[in-house]
Amino acid sequence: MSQIIVQFLQNLNSDKFKNHNIPNTFMKNIVVFTGAGISAESGLGTFRDSNGLWEKYKIEDVATPEAFQNNPSLVMDFYNIRRKELFNSNPNKAHISLVKLQEKYSLHIITQNVDDLHERSGAKNILHLHGKLNESKSTIDGKIYPIQGPYLNIGDLCEKGGQLRPNIVWFGEDVPNMEIAINLVKKAHIFIIIGTSLNVYPAASLIDYAVNSQRIILIDKSPTFLDGIEVIREKATQAVPKLVDDLLNL
Ligand code: OAD
Repeated sequence: MSQIIVQFLQNLNSDKFKNHNIPNTFMKNIVVFTGAGISAESGLGTFRDSNGLWEKYKIEDVATPEAFQNNPSLVMDFYNIRRKELFNSNPNKAHISLVKLQEKYSLHIITQNVDDLHERSGAKNILHLHGKLNESKSTIDGKIYPIQGPYLNIGDLCEKGGQLRPNIVWFGEDVPNMEIAINLVKKAHIFIIIGTSLNVYPAASLIDYAVNSQRIILIDKSPTFLDGIEVIREKATQAVPKLVDDLLNL
């Protein structure tokens, strides 16, 4: 199973990503791949923008299994703050407009985000690659539990008496849903990427599997240049509703 690692964007083979002029009637499967940028306008901080979370915290202090062993309170606090922010946030126009695609297409959303804003916007098929803020996981047997309220604390135990940890995929851990994500992306006729720096692997490698996509579209306010794909350099709440309307009118 692939492990999560940070890596700079590799050069991509541009020919793979060219449109193939296949008639629109065949473009039924849309896969949307989202990152922190789609939730930024809901008030949730991104990681690598200036003033982002990884400027305020070190990954190795709060987002690794070793961090949880060495200083569990700091790790719990970090995610408690994120969870509290999430409780005070709502889906924005980008999350909400994506749902309209379900009227005409088979829509799957693969997200690196640990928030539940896609769920709360009414999207049906959502796959989380990096876990969920509103779930905990037993440190004994990995069983998942819902978290009631914004806080998970030291001393909160699973039914077998083991400490619960946030159900977040930390750096150095396997990404259990990666194979499912790859298979979804392989079947995508249109692959839409929204608000991610594509810095974290294996998630960022999903673009390599969009081999049947006639269109690959990246929406990002400061995109990393990607050769051979359609790039929309705008905020998610501006660009996503327009793109959704265009796709519904095809
Ligand atoms: P990053 O913070 O790395 O990237 C956020 C992207 O969103 C950047 O490319 C921004 O330009 C863009 N962006 C910011 N605001 C935007 C807006 N309003 N509209 C459109 N785009 C906007 O976040 P991710 O790529 O999601 O993992 O980070 C990937 C993973 O790294 C996260 O899942 C998390 C983190 O470490 C773990 O913690 C395991």
